[in-house]
Amino acid sequence: MSFQVALNFEDGVTRFITCAPTETVADAAFGVGINIPLDCRDGACGTCKVHAEAGTYAGGDYIEDALSDAEAAAGYALACQMKPQSNLVLRVLASSAACKTKPAAQDTAIATVTRLSDSTTSFTLTATPDFLPGQYVNIQVPGTPHQRAYSFSSAPGAAAGFLVRNIPGGQMTGFLAEAQPGQAVTYTGPIGSFYLRDVKRPVLMLAGGTGLAPFLSMLEHLATAGSAQPVHLVYGVTHDHDLVLIVQLDEIASRLPQFSYVTVVADAASNHPKKGWVTQHLDLAHLHGGAVDVYLCGPPPMVDAVRTHFAGLGVTPANIYSEKFTPAGA
Ligand code: FES
Repeated sequence: MSFQVALNFEDGVTRFITCAPTETVADAAFGVGINIPLDCRDGACGTCKVHAEAGTYAGGDYIEDALSDAEAAAGYALACQMKPQSNLVLRVLASSAACKTKPAAQDTAIATVTRLSDSTTSFTLTATPDFLPGQYVNIQVPGTPHQRAYSFSSAPGAAAGFLVRNIPGGQMTGFLAEAQPGQAVTYTGPIGSFYLRDVKRPVLMLAGGTGLAPFLSMLEHLATAGSAQPVHLVYGVTHDHDLVLIVQLDEIASRLPQFSYVTVVADAASNHPKKGWVTQHLDLAHLHGGAVDVYLCGPPPMVDAVRTHFAGLGVTPANIYSEKFTPAGA
């Protein structure tokens, strides 16, 4: 039996390795060419320190100078000593380049392309990759030298799915308008530190536009894995036609009873029941007095406005994880 260990490096690059319960993480990584920084390999120096974001493990033998009790209690561990007892997500305190690795490249193909509305298209690939829910890949736009970053909207292990904002004249928009199933596509990744952590407290998700994609990935994962904690999503868009995949959100809610969501449209001309900005529709109850993990993904003004809004409310969430994006060509 082996466990899956996700190594998330400082630059956001993530590599997945397998590690037997009798093997140290450092040895398993080294076996596939990933050199986590090591010095003593004996639990004495602390050079190989990592942070365990999810999973359980045996910490092994080490001295206080290498890892203090307080650090161990905060989730730090030594890669040269730790052995997994479950699948793990580890934050490595070094860049991928320093560990002599880089994002994995994947050759795959278009499976489906669906125009969801005037503003949004979804597509899936034949690949069924491992990644942490919320992460993204860099996709080479076929026929061009350019790459575009897209967050997965699918769960890990499912056919890779993405949401794209339709940009007139945009390279990916143009490609997708003509794309056929089976057409070759290459991407590198997964990448990103915006991913779902262990759900230990209520979760509040705030999505702007196609920033919905990483939340669909997280929610699809939670709908399968289950959650004992409430999860609430506020999904804000500019125009009515930007609201997409409501049927999927309803379907997720049917599988994940702790999940609720609201939608908000900014357009003053809209007849949507909730109009304005996401900050105007943040129910204080969903902040749980600060005992909440907040995930925030959308255009930079939205992300900044939400952070300012929290400060104004005098509420400090336990954790805020955010990702800003600007559609290419916007
Ligand atoms: Fe020295 Fe791990 S390499 S403690």
